[in-house]
Amino acid sequence: MKGLVLAGGKGSRLRPITHSRAKQLVPVANKPILFYGIEQLRDAGVDEIVVVTGDTGEEVRAALGDGSGLGVAVEYVAQSAPLGLAHAVKEAQPALGDDPFVMFLGDNLLEGGIIDVVAEFLSGDEDAHVLLKKVADPTRFGVAVLDDDGGITGLVEKPADPPSDLALMGVYLFRPAIHEAVHAIRPSRRGELEITDAISHLLHGGGRVAATVHEGWWLDTGKKDDLLEANRIVLSGLPGRVEGTIVDCQIEGDVIVEAGATVESSRLRGPVAIGRGAVIRNADVGPHTSIAHDGQVIDARIERSVVMEACRIRDIHLGDSLLGAEVVVRGTGIADGAKSLHVGDHSEVGL
Ligand code: TTP
Repeated sequence: MKGLVLAGGKGSRLRPITHSRAKQLVPVANKPILFYGIEQLRDAGVDEIVVVTGDTGEEVRAALGDGSGLGVAVEYVAQSAPLGLAHAVKEAQPALGDDPFVMFLGDNLLEGGIIDVVAEFLSGDEDAHVLLKKVADPTRFGVAVLDDDGGITGLVEKPADPPSDLALMGVYLFRPAIHEAVHAIRPSRRGELEITDAISHLLHGGGRVAATVHEGWWLDTGKKDDLLEANRIVLSGLPGRVEGTIVDCQIEGDVIVEAGATVESSRLRGPVAIGRGAVIRNADVGPHTSIAHDGQVIDARIERSVVMEACRIRDIHLGDSLLGAEVVVRGTGIADGAKSLHVGDHSEVGL
């Protein structure tokens, strides 16, 4: 079984961050989102992985390399244009060959991994197996119609009148019959080759599609608030670990302080992750905050935020913020109240 990880796309909902960076490489708890899915594939025994890339392909290759750092072998396919999930499957077909494969959206995070569903799929003979999640607002998703045995009888994309509250998640398992389906379908109204249409095509041709309802959390990190929520949930599940230097601090809850980081005269309220080489001085950091490597937070306060590498934050109170790499933020003191910023790489903000 192979893996097919989709790391192209437009990332338009996460601008300005995605003007200069692949959304799949945005860090959650200081690790690129993409790596979580690849680790879950590896843990399910899927260690040959085809990664589909788009405009940010070079950056994805630089971060992931040949995959050996994560214990997998990666082959890259550059998608000619971001024309849909089924289009990505179409262009990856030569690399996938006739193997069954798990398609994993590179911006999705799910609790607990995919070991069981991979084993179940491989022991059966369905043409496809999808993961579903009960959601509050099915009108925003691809929604499944199930029969009494839990098999899928239909799929509807963003229905005005949803037939169920079970949304398609970002993990799909396929046998090679999907290749015929992705060639047979036509672009949708939004101009993309939709994977839901390809699965519907399979069903109409008598194919069998199984489903598993996922019980743990599932996060699609397409927007800023989703990303902050992912950071909150992932950090909350990590044990504390202090390898850096802490001097004269107040520590509450689980905190991760990487080697080479220095935290002085500050309060850390876990869950919090501080990357290597970061300097936190006279600051109040957390909860639900990650500061990537080589960042500085001085005379400042920050909570519920993701701060990418080498940012410099001074004299400000930030909450619910997403800062790209090498951003400089300078305020006029923490007493002015919390500010919420969403700032792309290399920006400078003075307040
Ligand atoms: P989406 O989040 O649906 O697509 P997008 O990145 O274009 O998002 P936005 O609406 O913000 O512009 O895609 C899910 C995942 O699949 C994501 O990791 C990007 C990837 N993808 C591809 O690799 N190729 C594609 O053609 C598309 C549409 C998405």
